[in-house]
Amino acid sequence: MKENVTNTFTEEEWKEYRDALLFWFDRNRRILPWREDPTPYHVWVSEIMLQQTRVEAVKPYYDRFLAELPDVQALADAPEQQLLKLWEGLGYYNRVRNMQLAAQQIVTDYYGEIPQKYEVLLELKGIGSYTAGAISSIAYGNAVPAVDGNVLRVLARNLEYDGDILKDSTKKYFFSLLKEHMPKDRAGDFNQALMELGATVCIPNGKPLCEDCPIYGTCLARKHDTTSKYPVKATKKQRKIVDKTIFRIFNENGELLLHKRADEGLLAGLWELPNIDEKYIVGEPGNEMIRRIFAQDVISQQTGTDKHIFSHIEWHMTCITLRGLTWDSKVYERLQQCFGSNLIFASLNEIEKKYPLPAAFSMWI
Ligand code: ADE
Repeated sequence: MKENVTNTFTEEEWKEYRDALLFWFDRNRRILPWREDPTPYHVWVSEIMLQQTRVEAVKPYYDRFLAELPDVQALADAPEQQLLKLWEGLGYYNRVRNMQLAAQQIVTDYYGEIPQKYEVLLELKGIGSYTAGAISSIAYGNAVPAVDGNVLRVLARNLEYDGDILKDSTKKYFFSLLKEHMPKDRAGDFNQALMELGATVCIPNGKPLCEDCPIYGTCLARKHDTTSKYPVKATKKQRKIVDKTIFRIFNENGELLLHKRADEGLLAGLWELPNIDEKYIVGEPGNEMIRRIFAQDVISQQTGTDKHIFSHIEWHMTCITLRGLTWDSKVYERLQQCFGSNLIFASLNEIEKKYPLPAAFSMWI
């Protein structure tokens, strides 16, 4: 197997690197709600959310989550539907379920105090190397790295590292390198500075803003004009495409039919608009499909198409609004046969307040 290029800096360059990065961070750090009061719980919640989406998108989720579940005990005790509702639209719903399991572990095993050691944090459900490093360093000041996608990109460019950054071995390599060279007295700020630099200056997809970069002087890719070559990422496997027809079915009271998904698998336990894995075609073949499913003629209207991308799968969706179903007990039976037994009708107000609905369906509510 080909060995990766493992350039490093001299001790003097590492010192310059640390100092320049922290000097820049002190002047350019964004004011973020979780940074104002970085308790272990605040850091934990924010870091898990930041694994899902951008800083700006996280802010309202973070505020709402903290308002409803202000501490570890509240998180441990929350009903599942409340948790999922608070996470609605963020995706990867198992992350918040795992947070609750970890919170319960913390209550039982650590008197409700989030542990501070990296190795102990790693034992908790859903806490991997990155999150353990972030909590331990940002909230407790311990000198452990927190290597996320931003940090991988920054370091790969700084050191012209030619290995695949999606590999575990790359993460481990950078972890040990940073552990050796990070400042012992400002570990949390150093980790956040690297992430911040990745998010705002050493940006992905396109040219980084090298003229604004505090570590311009030490960066090998900048020096050799090779920033476009790094980071190296092996091409990912193609996602599986699933064609779906999504149904908006209203009852006589204008309430919408919802289905609760199975307790395991993709979007487990969330609610959805009833749907089938079949492509809807406008016109007679489409009408035929509806007749077959509902065993009657119904007024149907194509309400739109959309694509939703998950990590390994893509849904290509066509949404159909149905009106004028004749509501008798046969129809309910029929609906259960088609979509499963966990069906309810809910008003839009109830959906907004009570039922966690994944982002894939939000445009049709
Ligand atoms: N991205 C994820 N976590 C971050 C943090 N703590 N600071 C800056 N960017 C981040």
